[in-house]
Formats: sequence, C-alpha cells, structure tokens
Amino acid sequence: MLRVMLVFGTRPEAIKMAPLVKAIEREPGMEAIVCVTAQHREMLDQVLTLFDIKPKYDLNLMKAGQSLSDITAGVLKGLEDVLIADRPDLLLVHGDTTTTLSAALAAFYQQIPVGHVEAGLRSGNIYSPYPEEMNRMLASKLAAVHFAATEGNVDNLLHEGVDASVIAKTGNTVIDALKMMIRSDYVFETSLLNQIDFEHQKVMLMTAHRRENLGEPMADIFRAIREAVDTYPDTALIFPMHLNPNVRKIAKTHFDGCERIHLIEPLPYEAFANLQNRVKLILTDSGGIQEEAPALGKPVVVLRTETERPEAVDAGTVVIAGVGYEDVKREITRLITDEAHYQAMSEAVNPYGDGTACEQIVKVIRQKYLD
Ligand code: UD1
Ligand code: UDP
Repeated sequence: MLRVMLVFGTRPEAIKMAPLVKAIEREPGMEAIVCVTAQHREMLDQVLTLFDIKPKYDLNLMKAGQSLSDITAGVLKGLEDVLIADRPDLLLVHGDTTTTLSAALAAFYQQIPVGHVEAGLRSGNIYSPYPEEMNRMLASKLAAVHFAATEGNVDNLLHEGVDASVIAKTGNTVIDALKMMIRSDYVFETSLLNQIDFEHQKVMLMTAHRRENLGEPMADIFRAIREAVDTYPDTALIFPMHLNPNVRKIAKTHFDGCERIHLIEPLPYEAFANLQNRVKLILTDSGGIQEEAPALGKPVVVLRTETERPEAVDAGTVVIAGVGYEDVKREITRLITDEAHYQAMSEAVNPYGDGTACEQIVKVIRQKYLD
C-alpha cells in the first residue's frame, strides 16, 4: 500500500486537492491521508463539507490577524509531530500558500519525498503575488516530483534546472473540480441570488483578498468599481467577501449604500462555481478564478499588476487591469459598454486542462512509486 499524505490549509488548495483525494482513494494500492493545517477555518470547512472529506489530522492553526511567520512556524512544528507519528511514503502539497511551503519543508526535514501539484507558475516578481511567488519557487526546490498544469509551467521549471524526468504535464485539477460542480439547472440556496435578474442586468461578480493589495490599492480598486456601478444603472455587483477583516473594512467603506451592490458571505464552492457561470463578467485578484472563468467563457478583469497565469491573457479572455483607479475603471467600462469587445473576450477557452488532471497525477504517482 502506498500511503500518500495530502496537506492543505486554505480554500483554494482544498478545492484543487479535493478531487485528487477522491482519485487517490479510488486507486487500488493507494491510501489517501488528509492533513489540514487550517490556515483558513470556515472557508476551508465549507470545501471539506462539500466534498465529504474527513481529515485524519487537523492542526487547527488559524488566528485572526495571523502573520506569515505565525503560519510558517505553526505548520512546520505541527507537521513535524504528524510526520514522525504517521510517516507517509509521499507527501503532496498544492500551489503557493504558506501552508504549501512549510509543509514541503517539514517533509524534507523528515526525508519524505514531496509531490508539488500546480508547480511551475511564475509571475517573475517576488513581491507580486506576495508572498506566493517565492513560496512556489521554494516549493519547487523541495519537491521530488512536479505536476505542472501547462506547457508554460513546464518550461519555467526546465529553465530553473529541474530535470525533465521529474516533471509531468497534467492540466490543473481545478478544471476537474469545476466540472463536478456546474449544472444548468442549479438552484442557489440563498434567495437573493435566485432573485437576481441575470438576463437583463449586467451582473458583475467580484472577489478580492490579495495581501499586496490591502490598503490603498484595494481602496482605489473598490472606488473605481463603485463609480462604474453608479454610472451604469443596468449593472449590479455581487461581492462574496473574503473573511479577512482587513478586506471587509475597505469593502464596507466603499460599497455601502447602493442597492445594486450585494455584499455577501463567502459562498460554498458549488454555489460560487454556478454563480460564475451565470454572471456577465468577473473582477478578481484571485488565482483560481483566472483559471475557472475562461473555461466558462466569462471575461475576467484581473485586479493585479501581473499574473503568473498568462495563458488565458494570451487567449484573450483575461485582461490585467492593474490596481490603479483609472485603469480599473477603464477596463470595466469597456466591457460594459463595448459589445464587440465583450464578445471577443467571452470565447470559452481552456488552457488549464480537460478535467482529467487528477487521473493523470495518480498515474504518474503509480509509475514512480508503485510499479
Ligand atoms: C491565503 C494565501 C493565498 C490564497 C488565499 C486564498 C498565503 C500567504 N496566502 O491568503 O495565497 O490566495 O489564502 O483565500 O498563504 N480568515 C477567516 N476565516 C477563514 C479564512 C480567513 O477568518 O476561513 C481571516 C483570518 O482573520 C485570517 C485572515 O483571514 O487571519 C487571513 O488569512 P491568511 O490565510 O493569512 O491569508 P489570505 O489572505 O487568506
Ligand atoms: N470561491 C468560493 N467561494 C467564494 C469565492 C471563491 O468557493 O465565495 C472559490 C473560487 O471558485 C476558486 C477559489 O475559491 O476556486 C479561489 O479562492 P481564493 O480567491 O480565496 O484564492 P486564490 O485562488 O487567489 O488562491
């Protein structure tokens, strides 16, 4: 029996690792052991409930206002105890969070091989996304096997000297997760979302949470979006607010008092995925949403200065607006008022995989560690 431990702690990691947990559980000769750090709590638990995943270990780390060092140290120490008590044959981490980096390091200290899922993304700027770009680069150094979503991700790893024999191009597991969620007859649990007129209103869906945007950049972004909603009466905005209190404070300041702006709680993934499928366009600084929305044919305005996911920008469905007030306003206005531009950006493209990433990852694990 190959014992594979999957370690994750935040909402996006959970969404992208959940279908992989299921695929490993289904695979003869493999056992999936789930350890959550709970870098996030409620937002992580929403995903665990949806996919019916019961972790064997829960480090229960989240604190309000946690610093990067708090998370790093908590994961490193908490996981040391778990790995000594219950040594897996392989440990899988995902992406670029502080959970990812610390879990990979903890496994390295125990000389347990690390598989890095969603490896090889690079923005080229260590401060954007911060600290994720560096987390992901360091995880690459610690990993024994790298699961890359795209050809570009493979190339980034090769350029950094990773041997081709330990890189597998598999697509991104987010497409596997998304495909499990989308239904044309989906009915929301919240009455507000069922009442929204998606056909006649230009409904925009927004998410925002990046550490490097907190403070002035986020305030400028929100001011620009508020102005666009106020200017065009046929628009509406839905913002499922991240639970970070720093985000919620800026949101309340800029969005209160407009009946076409709906500030709501984070949605369970199934509802959020189907909401993406209904709205006209998406405004976001999220990584995962830049991968999901293109697959659904929804134009995305990225509220960041650069991206480590250039594939959908190249395909024309994602535009990098930056974080300046004028820039954000211009990109949104163009999508609201220029129908030809909107149509050109709403071609569904899927550079991130075909929904079989988990299957492919399991196959590579079998070849490397079982056969
Ligand atoms: C983290 C990841 C980021 C990822 C994001 C997804 C790092 C450094 N950053 O950033 O890569 O894009 O998660 O959302 O790993 N909170 C709650 N309940 C929750 C979740 C968060 O109350 O379920 C609040 C807490 O006050 C917490 C704060 O949000 O202290 C920030 O969470 P944290 O994980 O430190 O940073 P994120 O910005 O969420
Ligand atoms: N998401 C969700 N509920 C929400 C907002 C987002 O389930 O209310 C999902 C979204 O579909 C995507 C993931 O959460 O799969 C993105 O997470 P987040 O923006 O927190 O992190 P990032 O992708 O930037 O790391």
